[in-house]
Parts: sequence; C-alpha cells; structure tokens
Amino acid sequence: KTIVTIVDNSMDNEREYQQAVDMLSAGEVVAFPTETVYGLGAVATNEKAVEKIFQAKGRPSDNPLIVHIGTQGEVAHYAKSISLEAKQLMKAFWPGPLTLVFEQIPHIVAPNVTPGVTTVGIRMPDHPVALRLLQTLKLPLAAPSANRSGKPSPTEALHVKKDLNGRIPLILDGGQTGVGLESTVIDMTSTPPVILRPGGITKDMIEAVIGPVETAHGLKTAEAPRSPGMKYAHYAPEAPLFIIEANQEKIKEAVTAIQKEGQKVAVIGPNDLNMTAADWYFAIGANTNVEEMAANLYKALRQCDTTEADLILAVETNLEGVGEAFMNRLLKAADGRRYDV
Ligand code: TXA
Ligand code: MG
Repeated sequence: KTIVTIVDNSMDNEREYQQAVDMLSAGEVVAFPTETVYGLGAVATNEKAVEKIFQAKGRPSDNPLIVHIGTQGEVAHYAKSISLEAKQLMKAFWPGPLTLVFEQIPHIVAPNVTPGVTTVGIRMPDHPVALRLLQTLKLPLAAPSANRSGKPSPTEALHVKKDLNGRIPLILDGGQTGVGLESTVIDMTSTPPVILRPGGITKDMIEAVIGPVETAHGLKTAEAPRSPGMKYAHYAPEAPLFIIEANQEKIKEAVTAIQKEGQKVAVIGPNDLNMTAADWYFAIGANTNVEEMAANLYKALRQCDTTEADLILAVETNLEGVGEAFMNRLLKAADGRRYDV
C-alpha cells in the first residue's frame, strides 16, 4: 500500500519529486531521507496534514516538531529575531544536522507543530533529496523521524517501510543516511544558548564558532518527559538492552553468565572486540571511529529484533565528539541500565 520510490542521484527523478510534491501539497505525508535519519514530512502550515504525522507514528502530540527549510533565508519567515550567534551557527553548519530553536512569529506554522511552546525549532538538512524536495515544494516541512513512536529512528527506507507500511502513501528512498543520529538541538532563546539534544554537530564545534554554551540535563532536555514513564521510551529494541564497559574480559564473563541462565544474548559493539562467544554480534565500526559506530547504531538495534536474543549488551564508547550523542541514545535505548558483572 505504501509506495517506495528510489531517487538515485544518477537518474532523472523529476517525476518522482513531482509526485512527492503533489502529495505534500494535497495535505499528505511523505517520508524522505535527510543526512541524519529519515523524516516523515507534512507541510508545516497545514494543521490537518501535520495531524497525519502524529497518527501515522502513534506519537503523543505534546512534543514539538522540527520545521525543515530548503534555503537559509526562510528562517526569517518563522523566527521572531535572529541573534548574531544564530546567524554564525547557520553560516557555519547549514545545511547540516543542527536544529536552532527560536521565539516564533505566531500563527505562521500550524499550532500542532509547536504544541505548548512559543518557540520553533528549524533546520536546513544537508541531503540532496531533502533539499530538492523542499526547494521544489517551496514550503516548510514539519518532520519528525519516520519511525513508529518508541522505535529506533530509521536510517534506511526499509526501516520506514517496516514501521509505517500502509500508514503513509509514499517513501522516497535515498539509500542509507549519513550521520545516523538525529540532529543536535540548540535553544537560542536563552543566554548562553543551551544544547537540548546532542547530535552530529558537537558542543566543541558549536563553541568554536560562538563561545561557551550549556548542555541541558534532566528535565530541560529536548526529549524531556511530560510524564516520568516516558523518559526512556525511545529507540528501544524488543529485548531488554544493557550498556556494558568496552572490556573484552568483562563482556565475555557477562555473555557466559547470561548463557548459563539459558538465555540468548546479542552484542552490539566495535569491530575490534572478539565476540565469538555471543549468540549474535553486530559490529558497528572501528572503536576509534565513533562517527561510524553512530551511523550504524540504529540499524543494529533493529537487527536485534530479527534475532531470538533474550537480552542485548551494547558496548559503551567514550563521550568525545559524537560519542556524547551516541551514549545519549544508547542510555535511552537501555532505559538507563548498565550490565554489571
Ligand atoms: O535529525 C533530526 O532532527 C530528524 C530529521 C528528520 O530531521 N528529526 C527528528 O525529529 O529527530 P523528532 O521529532 O524525532 O525530534 C525533534 C526533537 C524533539 O526532541 C523535540 O522535543 C525537539 O526536537 N524540539 C523541536 N522543536 C522544539 C522546540 N520548539 N523547543 C524545544 N525542543 C524542540
Ligand atoms: Mg524521533
């Protein structure tokens, strides 16, 4: 029921883009690739279209959506005022995986894009398909990640299809996404600005451009719970996941202990560990390359669901650079749990 259209850059895809643009203009939702994860887009000024996003995802409607734009200048249509720091960040990182939160000019985007807040989060994605779609449409797209609520964000069109088949009319397939984790979200309405969600643009990269910023912890984070139980209902595979130290011996001990209980265990970790004892091992990149590990994390979480693992161990990384975003998502997937031998 859901059409998946391949939009390879080497082909002439005018008809495919036009089909997507026509559907979006008519108030439908369309899934499309960005450099972070696949998004599920609807025209941000069309309340009924935006409502379809929440329905397709099964997403609670109290969490604001990011508005995606195709050109930098459009930010002035939605943001009340744009500080010098915001301009510097846009210049340095747009198009790219950075969402800026501004005070919004009221009554431009549909009310269900920004429930409960007077601000609006905006980003210009760095992906040829997303950019061409936005620039052809000439309208902003509200777009959360294109997964069923609670599942890991999709990094391939197949993941979107798995979650939303029959619930949305069209998926533009642009291959695997690059960063693999959602954009960094930074609140530009406070001084200094506050990073609400870590992502591909790291704190160090931001501070190199505008000087010191803060990082929100606990209740101030972008994915803050409205109800306590919601806090970690994110990115979760079906089997319980535990974070474990990057220590060959400790992991081996843990695997043995789990198997002794008659349980099967999947391990997600760097290429460099020898994990032949595990029932399944998903090697997601060199331990010296957190970017690579980040790009493959969500796919590995989804692959665990295709195994019979009773328990998943995910090997932690350091917190340098993208490591902060990697561990942020892993902690959510693990509901904060660590495996201690
Ligand atoms: O990389 C991404 O950001 C992907 C792609 C599709 O662009 N989108 C994405 O959207 O991750 P979503 O809805 O899954 O996450 C949006 C995050 C949420 O944590 C939300 O709370 C925060 O951004 N957010 C959006 N608008 C906000 C606002 N006005 N104030 C504070 N947080 C906001
Ligand atoms: Mg999401």
